[in-house]
Amino acid sequence: METLISPSILSADLRYLEGQIRACEEGGADAIHIDVMDGRFVPLITFGQAIVKACRQITSLPLDCHLMIVEPEKQLEEFAKAGADLITVHWETCPHIHRTLQTIRSLGLQAGLTFNPATPVDGLEYLGDLVDLVLIMSVNPGFGGQAFIPSTITKIEKTSALLKKIGSPAIIQVDGGIEAATVRSVYDAGARNMVAGTSIFKHPEGIQAGIHTLREKLK
Ligand code: DX5
Ligand code: ZN
Repeated sequence: METLISPSILSADLRYLEGQIRACEEGGADAIHIDVMDGRFVPLITFGQAIVKACRQITSLPLDCHLMIVEPEKQLEEFAKAGADLITVHWETCPHIHRTLQTIRSLGLQAGLTFNPATPVDGLEYLGDLVDLVLIMSVNPGFGGQAFIPSTITKIEKTSALLKKIGSPAIIQVDGGIEAATVRSVYDAGARNMVAGTSIFKHPEGIQAGIHTLREKLK
């Protein structure tokens, strides 16, 4: 399977969102990653359902909604209506994670589960048949442009082994500090979906070159 690249519009120039998403399409992006922040689970407030709806009107690429919010279960239906294809929730925000993942699937969407850098992934053992994607955070969530945390590598390897053990086909996504210097190491550890904000949208030669640079490292 080819490795998926999902540009995070957290680093996009929002004055020109349509053009920026178009450039992602032309550069061969596989999905658009939308970082939803609530000012509670993480310090800042970013995007909500209205932005997801706008993205849906712009592109037919899958919309990957990363919910960094408390009580995500209260928002799932509205994100589905807005046009999300994949919803990823944080282990840390979901006391009833089994049910929350079931709800995402029952809305007809792909279900993602993510773990902060210091959160163990052991709980996955009981959720293998409910997740389409496991996101291993490679920075502490909340901001773009942070440095990649090196212990992510062993965590991806561990997650990959665990998914294999329980027979789950879920894909491993990684998010935070993904750039030319780090993308190969997460691929080698088992990640097959790269989220990148800064290295794509702030690439000196433009968005398409940012995507191309990551792809080159994956050859
Ligand atoms: C961080 C977000 C990321 C962010 C990554 O909380 O989840 O998606 O956009 O940004 P970069 O690629 O700049 O580290
Ligand atoms: Zn994200």
